[in-house]
Amino acid sequence: MSTAVTPQPSRALALHAQHVVVAALVATFLLLNTVPSRTQPNVAANGMVASPEPLATDVGVAILKAGGNAFDAAAAVQFALAVTYPTAGNIGGGGFMVGLTAEGEAFALDFREEAPGAAHADMFVDANGEMVPNLSTDTHAGVGVPGSVDGMLTLLDRYGTLPRAEVLAPAVALARDGFPMSYALAGSLQRNERIRNFASSAAAFGLEGDGPRMGDLLRQPDLAATLEAISTEGRDGFYAGRTADLIVADMRANGGLITHDDLKSYAAEWREPLVFGHDRYEFITHPVPSSGGMTIAQTLAVMNMQVLKRAGYHSAKAVSMVTEAQRLAFADRNFWLGDPDYFNVPVDRLLSRDYMEQRRRLLPQDGLAGRSEGVSHGPAESDETTHFTVADRAGNVAAITTTLNSGYGLGAVATGAGFLWNNEMDNFSARPGVPNQYGLLGAEANAIQPGKRPLSSMTPTIVRAFGDFYLTMGSPGGPTIINTVLQIYLNVTVWGMDLQQAIDAPRIHHQWRPDRIDHEPFALSAETKAELTRMGYALHERQRIGMAAGIRKTPEGFFAGYADRRGAGTARGY
Ligand code: DON
Repeated sequence: MSTAVTPQPSRALALHAQHVVVAALVATFLLLNTVPSRTQPNVAANGMVASPEPLATDVGVAILKAGGNAFDAAAAVQFALAVTYPTAGNIGGGGFMVGLTAEGEAFALDFREEAPGAAHADMFVDANGEMVPNLSTDTHAGVGVPGSVDGMLTLLDRYGTLPRAEVLAPAVALARDGFPMSYALAGSLQRNERIRNFASSAAAFGLEGDGPRMGDLLRQPDLAATLEAISTEGRDGFYAGRTADLIVADMRANGGLITHDDLKSYAAEWREPLVFGHDRYEFITHPVPSSGGMTIAQTLAVMNMQVLKRAGYHSAKAVSMVTEAQRLAFADRNFWLGDPDYFNVPVDRLLSRDYMEQRRRLLPQDGLAGRSEGVSHGPAESDETTHFTVADRAGNVAAITTTLNSGYGLGAVATGAGFLWNNEMDNFSARPGVPNQYGLLGAEANAIQPGKRPLSSMTPTIVRAFGDFYLTMGSPGGPTIINTVLQIYLNVTVWGMDLQQAIDAPRIHHQWRPDRIDHEPFALSAETKAELTRMGYALHERQRIGMAAGIRKTPEGFFAGYADRRGAGTARGY
């Protein structure tokens, strides 16, 4: 890992003629070491932004340079991503944040979407109790009341330092003036079938004919007007007034449920972060209705790090150990977890020493694969999301995972308001025992109720060591998010990888059901696969698991940032 050095071209130019060549080489070397590189985590002293889209990363860095803190920059990146990264960046969706302030205060902010007031438990099943295909994913009935705008404004109110208009200005400009589409964005818009089904989306993204090409200017005037309203009026620019009228009209015209009352009553919630220790590290994660922190805590609690280390990286024994721990944790996740405002989630019990000991006894002892049929939740005692992260010199850290649920959400742009709708209602369990689009099975804890927030796998995470910020990361990928965050942590702390290696390393995933190990290409050697198969595991190759972004503190106190090779994102600092 190298540190950023500021090149000093003026001094180089003053050198004697015979030194010019050497000076040029030195200048090139210095320049290469300050330009963000794909082969080395970018390192900087003053602040760092890692996001899935370079223009949004630049927005975050500009806000930091203008004197904003990590929270100002994070909100600016969220709004910018709604313009430049429509597959997951949003103002029509929701998310979770965990933060750490310069004073050492940890917090969690829940801006997850909410079920509209008219929603009900069997809204996605027919008279026979069968799921109606695609109702929750491909129609306006699947849209939850969006939380991102209230979330970011709530964040700015409490922790921001810059005026709201300054934080929103870059997003407004990107939407109004447009930006040249990258290869990644143009390709993604060309390939996506679902957005083509909606005239509002075809108009917003220029999908007529052959569709957009790399370099075409994408202007989004309706979105610019909505962002401008938020900039001048605050939450009323979105949840009331003209934007609210457009939203409700769009819902009425398309069979959606959201009303003016739903919009008025939406409020992001401050939650007590889920903080737990592991070895010498301390995790700061989001509590339910995010399931990520709980599931990671349970997974780690039944694993033995010494045995894992001795087994060797991605050996059959190590993969089996992680898999069996994941199987147990996901069985509990799918039964016990849901919105704590509506369901009494037994958090303390699920994380208690006694209970974890009980679960540990269920691990297979014979060196063979466990079976998900044999593993259930413990008894009762009585293609898209995105993650970005910002750290600043003062010591503030922001980790945000945000989503429309599917890539481009519902696929529909809100007519006249220019933003894409989420299809988050699919994250509820519409019918116990029937999997949602991620193959997740759900239970009563996550049944649909008006005003309730659907269970999520989004896992923004900050790790402290000896009380100091050490690492932050998160990822998209539905349930694979949880295991992606877990593996990045293990890669750094058990396997000694640097941040880039830890994020780029091929991943594995098990979620109890379906009972199989998903793995990326090259994650497992031929020998390991053969051994796992002999042990009784079903293996399933997946092209991609997750797309993480993270920041790690270097021993010198600098910030090393990295955005996953699996995407086109960047980390930049200054
Ligand atoms: O909250 C959740 O768990 C899902 N809406 C996340 C969706 C997701 O990560 C899709 N990304 N690939």
